[in-house]
Amino acid sequence: MSGTPPELPIVVLDALMPKAQRLVVNRRGSMVWEVESHRGRYAVKVGYPIEATADWPAQPWTALAPAREGAVLYRLGLDDFAYGEWELGTWNFQPWHEGPDLYELWKPCREPDSRTEPHTGAALGCVEALAELHGKGWAHGDVQPAHFIIGPDRTHLIDLALARGGHVPEGYDFPFRGCLVHYEAPEIARSVLATGEAEPTQEADVYALGASLLISATGRRAVEYPDDASRPEQRRAVASGKRRPVKVDGELGELVHAMLSPAPGDRPTIYEVGKALS
Ligand SMILES: Nc1ncnc2c1ncn2[C@@H]1O[C@H](COP(=O)(O)OP(=O)(O)OP(=O)(O)O)[C@@H](O)[C@H]1O
Ligand SMILES: [Mg+2]
Repeated sequence: MSGTPPELPIVVLDALMPKAQRLVVNRRGSMVWEVESHRGRYAVKVGYPIEATADWPAQPWTALAPAREGAVLYRLGLDDFAYGEWELGTWNFQPWHEGPDLYELWKPCREPDSRTEPHTGAALGCVEALAELHGKGWAHGDVQPAHFIIGPDRTHLIDLALARGGHVPEGYDFPFRGCLVHYEAPEIARSVLATGEAEPTQEADVYALGASLLISATGRRAVEYPDDASRPEQRRAVASGKRRPVKVDGELGELVHAMLSPAPGDRPTIYEVGKALS
């Protein structure tokens, strides 16, 4: 995937016949494009395998992630998406959602000496998006601020490639090996350290949303470790369950604290979080 400028696979070009296209990200075995077509605007995700680097082992599963996400979208009963295979891996397209993500939206709260408090309405939008998924019996597995797109009418929770809760075709499935460690619940971190794998759960999603709200509002991680800590060092800090005394101001603060409880059973469900906020 290096050398030549990235291109959309021909199958995707045939399906969408883009009028305009823009590469949004290309990293760690995944490209995302924004595509304008006669059918509407779409996010196109294209996966390819990545080779090992100094700090990242080879990850053939990145090639499968878009098809796995497509299979999840199908199980969730969404329409207006498609997925399939290309030479190096798999792809999907799904509706493009306009709007900032949670981290961008709360940037003013993170300015030094900021008096802007995180807006409860935005937090509630994220809670509702996650509650909708949990209500269908699924866990997301990769809840993070960038995955909440705050649109004019509703908030969308994107990137369902790691979600668990229903059947995924064996050929597109792969084990869950944890997520971004800043958002990883202690029990997930412990399992990944011990076995290399873990089971995404709704309780871990609630923790991840608590950590997402905290980071977006304050710029601080839920657990303290040096910026340059290796991934296993970060996981060991998270697994220890020792929270750092960072609080969100205002009414959100107590709720975030409960969501970050070390024991999964002590965390509120997403519906309880929603009730407390509304
Ligand atoms: N449906 C969508 N609508 C709008 N933007 C999207 C959509 N899907 C993806 N994006 C944009 O592309 C970025 C990456 O998408 P996504 O998280 O799904 O891919 P990824 O390869 O799993 O990335 P990462 O490894 O960072 O999680 C998102 O943070 C968002 O900015
Ligand atoms: Mg993602």
